Amino acid sequence: MSQQHADAAIAAAPDYVRHTRLKEWVASIAALTEPDRVYWCDGSQEEYDRLCAEMVASGMLVKLNPEKRKNSFLACSDPSDVARVEDRTFICSEKQEDAGPTNNWEAPAKMRETLNGLFKGCMKGRTMYVIPFSMGPLGSPIAHIGIEISDSPYVVANMRIMTRMGKGVFDVLGADGEYVPCVHSVGAPLEAGQKDSRWPCNPTTKYIVHYPETREIWSYGSGYGGNALLGKKCFALRIASNMARDQGWLAEHMLILGVESPQGEKTYVAAAFPSACGKTNFAMLIPPASMKGWKVTTIGDDIAWIKPGKDGRFYAINPEAGYFGVAPGTSEKTNYNAMATLKENVIFTNVALTDDGDVWWEGMSKTPPAHLIDWQGKDWTPEDGKNGRKAAHPNARFTAPASQCPSIDPDWENPAGVPISAFIFGGRRATTIPLVYQAFNWNFGVYLASTLGSETTAAAFGAQGVVRRDPFAMLPFCGYHMGDYFNHWLKMGHRVEHTPKIFCVNWFRMDKDGNFMWPGFGENMRVLKWIVDRAHNRIGARETTLGWMPRFDDIDWTGADMDRAAFDALTEVDADAWRKELELHKEWFDKIGERLPRELALKRELVGLGLEKQAAA
Ligand code: GTP
Ligand code: SPV
Ligand code: MN
Repeated sequence: MSQQHADAAIAAAPDYVRHTRLKEWVASIAALTEPDRVYWCDGSQEEYDRLCAEMVASGMLVKLNPEKRKNSFLACSDPSDVARVEDRTFICSEKQEDAGPTNNWEAPAKMRETLNGLFKGCMKGRTMYVIPFSMGPLGSPIAHIGIEISDSPYVVANMRIMTRMGKGVFDVLGADGEYVPCVHSVGAPLEAGQKDSRWPCNPTTKYIVHYPETREIWSYGSGYGGNALLGKKCFALRIASNMARDQGWLAEHMLILGVESPQGEKTYVAAAFPSACGKTNFAMLIPPASMKGWKVTTIGDDIAWIKPGKDGRFYAINPEAGYFGVAPGTSEKTNYNAMATLKENVIFTNVALTDDGDVWWEGMSKTPPAHLIDWQGKDWTPEDGKNGRKAAHPNARFTAPASQCPSIDPDWENPAGVPISAFIFGGRRATTIPLVYQAFNWNFGVYLASTLGSETTAAAFGAQGVVRRDPFAMLPFCGYHMGDYFNHWLKMGHRVEHTPKIFCVNWFRMDKDGNFMWPGFGENMRVLKWIVDRAHNRIGARETTLGWMPRFDDIDWTGADMDRAAFDALTEVDADAWRKELELHKEWFDKIGERLPRELALKRELVGLGLEKQAAA
């Protein structure tokens, strides 16, 4: 049986695949998983159209009204499969201490045994797709190649949007090129004659597994997002963070944007915010009309690979080719560029369907349509909305080509990347964290980023959600020991002559009544302008315990509705709140344990001393 599957896999390989080792690996996975068919993807438009048509026929996709959304589809997942599963994500290094205290770990040999059991025959009744993809422009010296094997056509279609996918990858690989092998199954084999479900997955067993030393990825049981599109979090962050540590670069959960001044000066910054904290919005920001001549361009909205350049600066590329963005909250008002990106060639997942064959989600418009089919296929009316039933799942997403974004930067595919002048870190914090401050120096910035926190809930009604530490917004994505990762960042400060300035922001501070104190979105440009001016050493600031902060008059308020008292409240360093915050930093650092760089513990003590001085003054 097995040999038959292996032979079929090799027989199905197109002539242009000359990589014997790769073919043998594909054959071995076919022998293990026993699919009905093996299909090698070429990445063509015809192939995409054909697969989408097949998914429409099988009920997995709904074709949207082409007059409303040309060439676009809606997929609705199983309610048990709606987001990444962090508690089922594993870093299987040889030694447990190399995965560190923030990752789930299992011995590789034991995990391989478990997965071999699960993958045995798991593709029965299905097609096994071989998906060649490049993270970064094809053939670029900074790009890396992966081959994902998957039994989900939805994954194939999404990978075609999110990565450079197709037969060109085999030209780059040649007969013996390096690639990261990625194996994915929804974990739902079909017995002879069994009817497939709309969204096959394994409701009880999920494993998202990384072997950092051998650079392999195995994912079982889920078809959703980062669990299944293995180029994204699994490869471009968890595996790439290991490659980056070994090779002296950075793989980060960061957006990259360009700021153009009225004089035509271009400055690039990269910003790390935790999941669903506004990276896509910030990356596509449209400045307020009153800030004439300022413009923001988009390089990426989720992941940055950053390498030291010959001129002593860091250069960043976006390894992705599309956006897998949060739909709810996205509107012409909050993110005009995202809405424009979504006009055609989009796959929507878990949003609601309108009666005229278009999509809708909470926050897209003030007044919801009178009738919808919700993401679970049930009728929905605004009355249901009032009762708290959501039409779209809160983690509903769109998959759209980056090239369709009106604010896309002309250099977004430049293999050399763009030079980075500032790093920005931000989370969702109702209290304590001021609107913006600049770290005194690189190491202090690393301390601030290593203690980044974010509230787990949207903190409605001013209730303070639980703060989870999300260092560098990388908690679920760092593929090795967090203490070693902090150390790597400290070391990288010496790798370039012109280290970017480091800033922290918080768009989410709330007043006593639970209202956001900062308008956010386009207005964030005012803060961004100060950051850019600071990065070029041409604007003033005042020194605080936490770093350099803008004075009221350092910010361009033309056309804004902001008074000094409100600004003071937004930028206040509350000594009591910060004493408590520092206690939490200590708890967090204790959790990191012995591999925490001493430098960071010292920086924490320095802030403590500063607070005492501040209180005494
Ligand atoms: P991942 O794709 O999960 O990594 O997240 P992301 O950081 O790209 O998240 P995204 O930009 O989709 O964040 C969406 C959420 O942030 C929505 O709830 C937005 O309303 C909210 N948001 C974005 N920018 C702002 C802002 O400036 N102020 C406020 N208050 N909310 C914002
Ligand atoms: C995130 O959770 O940070 C995402 C979405 O960007 S997913 O690709 O599903 O991980
Ligand atoms: Mn993300």
